[in-house]
Amino acid sequence: EDVLRLAALREGIRAVPDFPVPGVVFRDLTPLLADRAAFAACIEALASPWRGQDVQAVCGIESRGFIFGAALARELDAGFVPLRKPGKLPPPVVEVDYALEYGTDRLQARNDALRPGQRTLLIDDVLATGGTLCAARALVARLGGALLGAQVVVELDALRGRMRWGEGAPLRALLHF
Ligand code: PRP
Ligand code: ADE
Repeated sequence: EDVLRLAALREGIRAVPDFPVPGVVFRDLTPLLADRAAFAACIEALASPWRGQDVQAVCGIESRGFIFGAALARELDAGFVPLRKPGKLPPPVVEVDYALEYGTDRLQARNDALRPGQRTLLIDDVLATGGTLCAARALVARLGGALLGAQVVVELDALRGRMRWGEGAPLRALLHF
């Protein structure tokens, strides 16, 4: 039954070759979001391994991580904390720089976004190289949160982001490509 449900979710993800640059297969999750049954099943499947773990805060990564993160926070009866690209949040912020394939980017959070020891779950739509999720993890550490783990909708296995994440906290993926 779970397998059938996951197969239905897979069908809601569109592969777009050579976007945004030649050689990349972009995984577009917007068809899944637009389908009420698929979106509901997706949020339920994301939440299920974390139920009963007293998740107090869900940290979502701008911008696609906000869509899944806010819904997941409601489902788990947790608060939602946005981890944002630079220049979006009013000060005071804490920030972490991270490497992209070319150049660098930065994530910011309000410096009081988490209480010390607050039980925190990270969420994003796609795990690719893992740079973004590892930066988010560093930000949670800087904020003093207690990281329970990370959840993504899609893991791109070939890019080995899971190796970069390591084994200190669980990383769960709903679907693999
Ligand atoms: C995408 C995706 C993840 C990140 C994964 O975000 O939503 O956050 O890339 O890549 P990585 O594992 O190699 O770090 P993007 O920066 O394209 O921003 P968006 O959500 O605003 O589209
Ligand atoms: N983020 C990083 N790589 C991606 C891909 N191939 N598809 C969708 N989102 C991504």
